[in-house]
Amino acid sequence: MSASVAFILNGAPVTLRGAPGRRLADVLRDDLGLTGTKIGCNAGDCGACTVLLDGAQVCACLLPAARVEGRSVTTVEGLADGDTLNALQAAFLRHGAAQCGICTPGMLMAATDLLARIAAPTEAQIQDALGGVLCRCTGYRKIIEAVLSLAESPLPLWEGVGGGVAAAPSVGQRLEKTDGPAKLTGAEKFGADALPPEPWLTLRAVRSPYAHASFTLGDFAPLLAQHPGLRRVLTAADIPGRNLFGIYPTGKDQPVLAEAHVRHRGEPVCALVGDADTLAGIRDADLPISWEPLPDITPDRPGPDLHAHAPNNILCRGRVARGDVDSGLRAAAHASIAVQTRFVEHAYIEPEAGYACRVGERIEIVACTQTPYMDRDEIAPILGIAPEQVRVILTAVGGGFGGKLDLSLQPLACVAAWLLRQPVRVVYTRPESMASTTKRHPARIAAEAAADADGHLTAFRFHGDFDTGAYASWGPTVANRVPVHATGPYAVPALLCTTAAIHSNGPPSGAFRGFGVPQAAIAGEALLDMLADQVGLDPWEIRRRNALGVGGVTATGQVLGEGAALPECLDAIRPRWDALRAEAEAFNAAATGPY
Ligand code: FES
Ligand code: FES
Repeated sequence: MSASVAFILNGAPVTLRGAPGRRLADVLRDDLGLTGTKIGCNAGDCGACTVLLDGAQVCACLLPAARVEGRSVTTVEGLADGDTLNALQAAFLRHGAAQCGICTPGMLMAATDLLARIAAPTEAQIQDALGGVLCRCTGYRKIIEAVLSLAESPLPLWEGVGGGVAAAPSVGQRLEKTDGPAKLTGAEKFGADALPPEPWLTLRAVRSPYAHASFTLGDFAPLLAQHPGLRRVLTAADIPGRNLFGIYPTGKDQPVLAEAHVRHRGEPVCALVGDADTLAGIRDADLPISWEPLPDITPDRPGPDLHAHAPNNILCRGRVARGDVDSGLRAAAHASIAVQTRFVEHAYIEPEAGYACRVGERIEIVACTQTPYMDRDEIAPILGIAPEQVRVILTAVGGGFGGKLDLSLQPLACVAAWLLRQPVRVVYTRPESMASTTKRHPARIAAEAAADADGHLTAFRFHGDFDTGAYASWGPTVANRVPVHATGPYAVPALLCTTAAIHSNGPPSGAFRGFGVPQAAIAGEALLDMLADQVGLDPWEIRRRNALGVGGVTATGQVLGEGAALPECLDAIRPRWDALRAEAEAFNAAATGPY
């Protein structure tokens, strides 16, 4: 196999020397600086790395660079003509098809392949062609509409049509995203796209393979001597300040690096810092770490307290009470339900990534985060410095959904850069991201509700146990917010809603679109359907009769003002609801034949 690879890249000849077996995605990004091609999974699953090979879409993360010898590769950087977007990019901008933008290059390349083959594709053909690229922002509708718009009024794909922001937006006018063009051309910098100043080091966290274990670290000197490219092994003893962080001011319970005891699979116990090739050649099995696995603790399988401040592993409780629930539950109709939900991963397409630099007595961290100010206030005590000495610089965020509210790579990168006085970069792998970052709280819910003969709710009783995992993260928010919202947007005169956030050896549960309320809504909405059935009302009707509008009183006694428009929303969907119901009834009638 030749040590060099010659091919055409975005219309120009390129010759690469060395490592023809490397992945094309890495070569494009690391050697050629074309970071518009994204890496979401590095395993052929997400399509973020989609490029064109001789005009056909391929996953660049699966393609050895040698395979492009003598062929033509097109990346997202090859679509626009300078600052002028091509017709497809302009259609994406018009339709708001780039949300966070991390999937957008892959979507554009897949669509380009399709439109070159079929000038006016059908919706089914578009869905088929784009089906290998995942959009976690769930922007599929707008993406499909953007491609369809070209099918309906085809423009020469490679002819520039401009872009940019509408000059004088006004109420009712569709706005183009100000950062849309950068997301459509590959110019936008996400966490792994921003490179530190040279010379920089790479950090790899070494993580627990056990959900619950004690461990001891041995002597790393032989490993350091064996690998000159390994500059340092960081352990808990190296943390300059407080080896704890957490969302709440009084609830710092999560170590940057574990000390002798791990509470969840994927928890970091030490970190290797050095050049990337050296780190890649060191296996976890080569490290002097002795493990003693301990029984896993779950809400179903209680065990010793995981934290001294949480007796019986109860982190905290929530409660909202109002009116006479027992009397209210003795109404014309009564229903009860038990619901259990599991961990849910945010699965943003962009794994956590960034770098830190020490600038004199200041640390600068460049990373994908949803909470720069909270990050600053968390990093400072970990380094033992003042918040004013921490500068957080945001990259674009390739999806967060609450999962990038908590610290991830930031403390490790900052500690390493601070101690080594050299820039340090961290890019999580997909498995690492999934193992170590927060999840939606699993819940076990028991609830009951009652209604009078007219379908008006009379009482609601709810208890939910929320598995907050190894560390508190946003557990107190979930435990306290769920009782406030468990009755949903409905008027209930009597209620008792209680919760507990319970520690386990699961990954920390954190923020995820709704802070536990979606789990509660599963129970509440199901109860409404059951009550509607009992009193002979349509499911739409029982919701309309109980909907909180202007002047309505919530579970906590808040009187709603202007903007509480659930009754109007329900009225607006009534025709559609009736049509769907008629369709379902017709289907059911047809299905009750001889079969
Ligand atoms: Fe290549 Fe996901 S398919 S990065
Ligand atoms: Fe598709 Fe965010 S816009 S993943």
